[in-house]
Amino acid sequence: MTAAAVRPAAPLAVRAALAEELDAVGALTAEAYRADGLLEVDDEYEVELRDAARRAREAVLLVAVEGDGGVVGTITLAPYATSYAEVAEPGELELRMLAVAPGARGRGVAARLVTAALREAVARRARGVVLSTLAEMAAARRLYDRLGFVAVPERDWGHEGVHLQVLTWTPPVAPGVLVEAATWRPAGTVDVDGWRLGLSDGFTRRANSALPLGTPADLAATLARVEQVYADAGLPASVRVCSAAPDGLTAALTARGYAERAATDVLVRDLVALPADRVAAPPDVRVAVADAPDESWLAGWLGVKAAGGSVDAATARAVVAGSPALYLTAASADGTTLGVLRAAVADGWTGLSCLVVVPAARRRGLGRLLTRAGLRAASDRGARRAFLQVEVANAGAAELYAGEGFRPAERYAYWER
Ligand SMILES: CC(C)(COP(=O)(O)OP(=O)(O)OC[C@H]1O[C@@H](n2cnc3c(N)ncnc32)[C@H](O)[C@@H]1OP(=O)(O)O)[C@@H](O)C(=O)NCCC(=O)NCCS
Repeated sequence: MTAAAVRPAAPLAVRAALAEELDAVGALTAEAYRADGLLEVDDEYEVELRDAARRAREAVLLVAVEGDGGVVGTITLAPYATSYAEVAEPGELELRMLAVAPGARGRGVAARLVTAALREAVARRARGVVLSTLAEMAAARRLYDRLGFVAVPERDWGHEGVHLQVLTWTPPVAPGVLVEAATWRPAGTVDVDGWRLGLSDGFTRRANSALPLGTPADLAATLARVEQVYADAGLPASVRVCSAAPDGLTAALTARGYAERAATDVLVRDLVALPADRVAAPPDVRVAVADAPDESWLAGWLGVKAAGGSVDAATARAVVAGSPALYLTAASADGTTLGVLRAAVADGWTGLSCLVVVPAARRRGLGRLLTRAGLRAASDRGARRAFLQVEVANAGAAELYAGEGFRPAERYAYWER
């Protein structure tokens, strides 16, 4: 069968299960285990597999849903010391009861579910993920290996003659807020009690927000000063809540009337094992790499990024060209820009950003082509690891990056008022 033939008929979404789906989720889980010969006749475990309502109450129950609303897969996430956690140690999130409907296999549903679970683990600041698997679950094992799980034989366990292998996954090291900031410099910055406030006429949240780089003596007073700086600039006050943030920041922001915007995952991969192939471009497409953004690069990016809104091109250029970076352009034979990408380089990292493909040229592999070309070009300039930021709601881009070997390392959000 060709890859195109096994692609899902409709887009796939992963989200928390809804109350009205629980019966179907329970039945699907039992059916998936039975189809693989994992249940005996009258197996008591079947009762547990069918009880999706309890999983939704006592754990986090995710489902994969195809476009028409049909549930095609599920996974359960159990934090340490909750009722569904069997082997989790403090700080670990345990994955259980991964199941894909027999009729929906071979389409990447399980990969989407496990990847969503890893992103959730990182969002909860889990130090690791753990699961138990059986030697017979060969297809699942290949997936876990591909996603970076490792066997920890000393934690293997068993019951009733069944040997369960324990696998763990540890989030990759994140670049950290300073490396991220070095790849996207605001047009101007102001220091407030050690926090760095970006000011760029409102162009991009990243360049118009406060980085909470330390614990101020008086958090409320610091926030008041941050608000004053942004009010003077005619901008909303915006604070990045990330792992560098001091304890109590979220509570303080909530009390002051801020709301969370744009939850974003930082995804990471190393550049040691870059695919050897350079990805053949479609015959009518050329990719060029430059050290500065020319007019067509900028227009290509802003055409998608700022569609429908007005942006001051000088500010956009100042932000985009404000730190060392490579600018990739994919163009058709007649010179029409089809897509762009920026690959900034800082401290051994490359930070990919600004990936856009014009709507008419999407799903032809150009996003993947630009991503791989950017990683290759940055690696040639000495980068050893890559990161990028993708909004949690941007499922299509997340799917692209997961396929290119990016794994979640951190989640942050901007809080604004
Ligand atoms: C994200 C974006 C760059 C993808 O460009 P593209 O050229 O369509 O991507 P590709 O054709 O290379 O897709 C490669 C793979 O990514 C995944 N993918 C891409 N778009 C997807 C979508 N909308 N839904 C689901 N999966 C998607 C698929 O796995 C796809 O492989 P497949 O077509 O064989 O199934 C494009 O949709 C875009 O410009 N979006 C707006 C800007 C944006 O979101 N940029 C990313 C910011 S972090």
